[in-house]
Amino acid sequence: MRWLIADITYGTGVRRLSIFSRASQSRRGSGLARSKTSDRWLKEHFDDSWVKKSQIDGYRSRASYKLIELDKRDRLFRSGQVVVDLGAAPGGWSQVAVERVGDPGTVIASDILEMNPIAGVDFVQGDFSEQAVLDELLNLLGDRRADVVISDMAPNMSGVAAVDIPRAMGLIELALDMAQQVLRPGGVFVAKVFQGEGFEALLSDMRRSFASVVSRKPDSSRSRSREVYQVCKGFRG
Ligand SMILES: C[S@@+](CC[C@H](N)C(=O)[O-])C[C@H]1O[C@@H](n2cnc3c(N)ncnc32)[C@H](O)[C@@H]1O
Repeated sequence: MRWLIADITYGTGVRRLSIFSRASQSRRGSGLARSKTSDRWLKEHFDDSWVKKSQIDGYRSRASYKLIELDKRDRLFRSGQVVVDLGAAPGGWSQVAVERVGDPGTVIASDILEMNPIAGVDFVQGDFSEQAVLDELLNLLGDRRADVVISDMAPNMSGVAAVDIPRAMGLIELALDMAQQVLRPGGVFVAKVFQGEGFEALLSDMRRSFASVVSRKPDSSRSRSREVYQVCKGFRG
């Protein structure tokens, strides 16, 4: 039996040793039939240059580079802006947002999970589908309108598209709903979406509310992931 020890650093900075048994992966018939999925996951993790880069650059997750790429291409942020970051933990996007808006700006973030504090970020923990969480976010915004709403929210994926896509779509619709409530005219909304049932209807809703809507697949997004990012600019108000 061969053991593989994976030293995994999570975005929270928590490191865990995970032990994988090759024997447990090769029970399906011959020794050659070991799990392709586990092999692929391990290979991807160790080879993932974005994970390595995030550790060097001090970002909490590889997701930071997706936002950096989107910002480079679509010029999302400016100094002094008010940004709302939904599905923020462990904080990779919030870190980038804080860098971009600087001291005069504001970042308000939320996630169902805990998030270690980031200087310059106000954080609300809770399930975004609950009214109390939305109310707390609106409370933090006060009289201010947001310039940018970003959502990287995604539920835990079961691997069953018929279950995962509707759950993800529900969260994206709620994020769009909040963006429509809080953005200033001309504001920007960026959301991770999953291609599947409901995508076309979502796109139509976005096109009604924003002057420009484009789909982006950043280089740092895994190619086999169904995720794409909708960049919506010019909120019609
Ligand atoms: C891909 S991760 C976000 C990564 C983050 N943008 C970053 O850069 O570190 C997706 C996040 O969505 C959050 N999420 C999933 N369901 C949620 C819900 N119902 N309410 C709030 N957050 C949720 C998850 O907890 C998870 O942290």
